[in-house]
Amino acid sequence: IMSKVIVFGSINMDLVARSHRLPVAGETLRGHDFFTAAGGKGANQAVAAARLGVPTQMVGRLGGDSFGRELLAGLQASSVDTGAVLVDEAAASGVAIITVDDAGENNIIIVAGANGRVNENDVERLKNWLPEAAALLLQLEIPMSAVLAAAEAGRQAGVRVILDPAPASLDIPQQLYPLVDIITPNEVEAGQLVGFPVDGQESADKAATILLGWGVGNAIVKLGDRGVFCATSQEKFFVPAFRVQAVDTTAAGDAFNGALATALAEGRSLREAVVWGAAAGAISATTAGAQPSLPDREMFNRFLGERGIFQTP
Ligand code: RIB
Ligand code: NA
Repeated sequence: IMSKVIVFGSINMDLVARSHRLPVAGETLRGHDFFTAAGGKGANQAVAAARLGVPTQMVGRLGGDSFGRELLAGLQASSVDTGAVLVDEAAASGVAIITVDDAGENNIIIVAGANGRVNENDVERLKNWLPEAAALLLQLEIPMSAVLAAAEAGRQAGVRVILDPAPASLDIPQQLYPLVDIITPNEVEAGQLVGFPVDGQESADKAATILLGWGVGNAIVKLGDRGVFCATSQEKFFVPAFRVQAVDTTAAGDAFNGALATALAEGRSLREAVVWGAAAGAISATTAGAQPSLPDREMFNRFLGERGIFQTP
């Protein structure tokens, strides 16, 4: 039987405005498009994995509102198992206010809502599913105490813990790092973690070395359209980015993590998993919205095949 991917994290409704450029403080800009789309770093990673065909379990909280009902149905439509998603009647669903410019760059404000109420009780629910899991995906849109408890539970169950330290946060407790098998910051997040700017292969290498020194098993630094730098205890390698026309990079990082976990759950090597992550991230950047932009397996296989990359069996 194929093992599962479990995501413990956030679920948001994204409210997205498109304008030619991002506004500056105090400025009112005319936008030219508005839409709502399912999002949240946790839910995005779950949908990315499920659409690639791996059994995926989401553990988190929604509010007892219409966004919550819509988001739950969306997860189910993408074949994510929502049996461990709690509808928290006392809370509003998490939302993200997003602006995207013509270059596909974005600004995001998140309001946690029910995501902010995830706690140790949710970790207890998570524990039921860990024995079947190949990987546990974590991000930082829920309280840090819950992330830490989940990482401890994952480590104890012998499950590979993958941490996306996003959004960038300065208060990561040092005891989290040794519980993490794979950490996947982008440049901004890596820079905040280590305290110096990360803007290319050389600084990514320095940052990754520091992260390994703090106890993480593997460090993967996502350099956007400049590729991915990886450091393990055995080796360092660089995977170039796939060239695509970026329309909206929202959820590109989540697509990366979902595909990375899927490849590992299928028993593929870390190097192949990183190529998968880069491919899924690139595909998602070509389409608007978070979850609407995540590829299914057929689209994903075609993308790799057209680039002469064939999957190992
Ligand atoms: O990573 C992208 C996600 O960040 C969006 O879907 C938004 O909900 C925010 O959580
Ligand atoms: Na996108």
